[in-house]
Amino acid sequence: MIKKGIILSGGMGTRMSPLTKAVNKQLLPIYDKPLIFYPLSILMLAKIKDILIIINKGQLDQYKKILPDGKRLGIKITYIEQESPKGLPDAFILGDKFIGKDDVSLILGDNFFYGQYLSTRLLECVQLKKGAKVLLHRVAKPERYGVAKVNKNKITLIKEKPKKFISDLAITGLYFFDNRVVKFSKELKPSKRNELEITDLLNKYRKKNQLSADYIGRGGAWLDTGSIEDFYKTSNFVSAIENQQGFKIACIEEIAFLNKWINKTHILDAIKFYGNCEYSHYLKKLITK
Ligand code: DAU
Repeated sequence: MIKKGIILSGGMGTRMSPLTKAVNKQLLPIYDKPLIFYPLSILMLAKIKDILIIINKGQLDQYKKILPDGKRLGIKITYIEQESPKGLPDAFILGDKFIGKDDVSLILGDNFFYGQYLSTRLLECVQLKKGAKVLLHRVAKPERYGVAKVNKNKITLIKEKPKKFISDLAITGLYFFDNRVVKFSKELKPSKRNELEITDLLNKYRKKNQLSADYIGRGGAWLDTGSIEDFYKTSNFVSAIENQQGFKIACIEEIAFLNKWINKTHILDAIKFYGNCEYSHYLKKLITK
């Protein structure tokens, strides 16, 4: 059972400069809340309460203003600063102590997931006992992502941003690993672009026949908010759903409340913290229902 999660929330956000010159990408808004709330909510839906957030050097104050230590949410949040973006598997090298002897999940700070049965699927994924698991999603432009070729439910090939078409199944930024991930990450060598590659890490498991895949499915949405275009697309998506259905996506206090990790007093504290805003009005409704 995976009980620990890492959010990789650094990176230079170069494609979104000048917006990201002063503020980290994951603190920019996706509609009505900072981007970081969305991956955090996914870990919380998977009932993960022990969370490490990896951020850029020098940005701890910015993060602590919005997400201090997790007490408000009934969870534990720890931070580690990354000197420079060395690649996704660096999360497991930096997170070595945090992980200890446990298994761990990783979510990329800029990934957005939404869909029916998502919570159920997440709760299945954290049951992982041995090996690694990825979530795949069909995309129109596979050359932008890590992709997996699948034959009879078995992953036969994995490639990072392939120039030539091999499959249209993108490997989304949510991964589940057994404890060997720390050792395997330390064995990796930087690629041509001088980064440790998540695809090389996944290939270690694949070669041992210990990499499994699940699907988000057609009813689900997965968006990588890597560019300005994607940011607005995701914001529009959240706005459409929230305004039509009247409930919020990634309201972290609501998830904590429904998980029974916090009570009404915590919600009232959150309302005080956020002040008079639409998000607080939503929280108020939650406890006066
Ligand atoms: O979004 C899914 C894709 O994410 C996967 O399909 C790819 O296999 C995977 O390599 C990754 O590709 P990206 O090109 O989107 O990765 P990017 O460099 O944009 O990093 C993703 C997030 O992780 C982003 O929020 C920044 C953060 N990051 C990245 C690196 C390399 C860090 O915090 N530290 C890092 O060292």
